[in-house]
Amino acid sequence: MSKVLFIVGSLRQGSFKHQLAEEAEKVLAGRAEVSYLDWSQVPVFSQDLEQSTPAAVTKVREEVLAADAIWIFSPVYNFSIPGSVKNLLDWLSRALDLSDTRGVSAINEKIVTVSSVANAGQDQLFAIFNDLLPFIRTTVVGEFTQSRVNDSAWADGQFIASQETLSSLAAQADALLTAIN
Ligand SMILES: Cc1cc2nc3c(=O)[nH]c(=O)nc-3n(C[C@H](O)[C@H](O)[C@H](O)COP(=O)(O)O)c2cc1C
Repeated sequence: MSKVLFIVGSLRQGSFKHQLAEEAEKVLAGRAEVSYLDWSQVPVFSQDLEQSTPAAVTKVREEVLAADAIWIFSPVYNFSIPGSVKNLLDWLSRALDLSDTRGVSAINEKIVTVSSVANAGQDQLFAIFNDLLPFIRTTVVGEFTQSRVNDSAWADGQFIASQETLSSLAAQADALLTAIN
């Protein structure tokens, strides 16, 4: 079965992106093996740290290398990619063999798609991902799902995916699986 690695770009307990990812996981049930990347220990990037790769970076690289595709659930921070998510992608974009800085990275040629939940700035977020992901030599697939935070979620923490969101996730999942197979 295909392996799809979920990257939830928020480390917040109860994250709405994590709840969206759980909806996507249901859509993929029985059709792909889903795992969630734990990137919480990845340090702020520095070329000094690259000389002996931090263990947390080696671990995320291994998980990315083992995946057939990656599904990113990204917050919008100030109409842009959160710095933490960009930091992770920067690490993943670096060559595995530092003697050839243009050589293959862990994320090289991976099939990638993106979804979000936010109330403003998703078009800008997706435009940035659409520039960034091909630049780091990934293959972008699917129509990115964008969804709003339901008003009650701010009070009770429960993200409720609309029917439109669920349909969009289903179409995105189909596109992802088609691209893998
Ligand atoms: C630094 C920062 C910037 C934010 N900028 C935006 C924004 O541009 N658009 C938006 O809809 N929400 C913005 N938010 C609100 C987040 O979307 C909201 O906190 C969301 O719940 C975070 O995702 P999570 O629930 O997955 O943790 C921002 C939050 C933070 C902390």
